[in-house]
Amino acid sequence: MKIGFLGTGAIASAMVTGLSSAGGEAHSILLSPRNAAIAADLAHRFPQVSVASSNQEVVDECTIVVVAVRPQIAQSVLSELRFRAGQSVISLVSGYSLQRVRTLASPASRVTRAVPLPSAAQRRSPTAIHPPDRVTAEIFDSLGTAFAVDSETEFDALCSATATMATYFAFADGVASWLTRQGIPETIARDYIARILSGLAHATAEAPERSFPSLAADHATRGGTNQQVLTSLREHGVFDHLSEALDAVMRRVTASTSIPIDS
Ligand SMILES: NC(=O)c1ccc[n+]([C@@H]2O[C@H](COP(=O)([O-])OP(=O)(O)OC[C@H]3O[C@@H](n4cnc5c(N)ncnc54)[C@H](OP(=O)(O)O)[C@@H]3O)[C@@H](O)[C@H]2O)c1
Repeated sequence: MKIGFLGTGAIASAMVTGLSSAGGEAHSILLSPRNAAIAADLAHRFPQVSVASSNQEVVDECTIVVVAVRPQIAQSVLSELRFRAGQSVISLVSGYSLQRVRTLASPASRVTRAVPLPSAAQRRSPTAIHPPDRVTAEIFDSLGTAFAVDSETEFDALCSATATMATYFAFADGVASWLTRQGIPETIARDYIARILSGLAHATAEAPERSFPSLAADHATRGGTNQQVLTSLREHGVFDHLSEALDAVMRRVTASTSIPIDS
């Protein structure tokens, strides 16, 4: 299966790195010429990766084409290309509805949307895909775990939830910075918090049957210090505000996918 990428930037680079180190069947990968430096570096690192001379060559040579250009240029990039019927197109372009990509990539019949994360490079990305599609799911399962959803609204909700990633780091920094103010050296504070996070992530992944509230309850002894912090944040409305912030992101995501197809 030959996989082509239109746009070789941050997310394409993460996917190509993950796909090329996945073990098992090595995919042959063809990259569009831009960004030239990133494409050359990937081709240098992985023998099955090569660089095309044009975007059209990527479309002509590949069974699956991953669209990984920015939303601002996706319309003009796609409208210049000639796709084939029966070709698979996976769009990573945020804010482009399935219908919009289908129209731009016509007559390609198998079009899906996906939102991989940078952790695809380490094959740890949860990736929302829509609509469910076996080949797309196989690709993203090899880069972590694919989450296929039937409706675009569900897909938009999963996309919206990815807007919390910076907040997890900011939260970790809030605790680490507090530690440094108590005299703990910065590197130790960072490492200490990173290992707490890593342990929690591990415990969460190891017990998929446990709900988040039950895990939280396990860590919050009645009258203990964990319960004290959690209650304080709750009383200050932190979690209510989180829900409102996500509602606002969802409105923004939904508004962008509602842009008329020809604009
Ligand atoms: N980054 C993420 O975590 C992430 C996650 C999910 C989805 N996405 C989506 O993936 C898309 C790419 O995001 P990104 O973060 O990877 O952006 P990026 O790093 O800016 O990569 C975009 C790439 O497109 C190239 N490009 C520009 N004009 C082109 C053209 N005419 N033909 C082919 N390639 C062209 C750019 O090359 P130059 O550098 O030479 O301009 C660059 O290599 C976006 O639509 C974004 O919404 C990103």
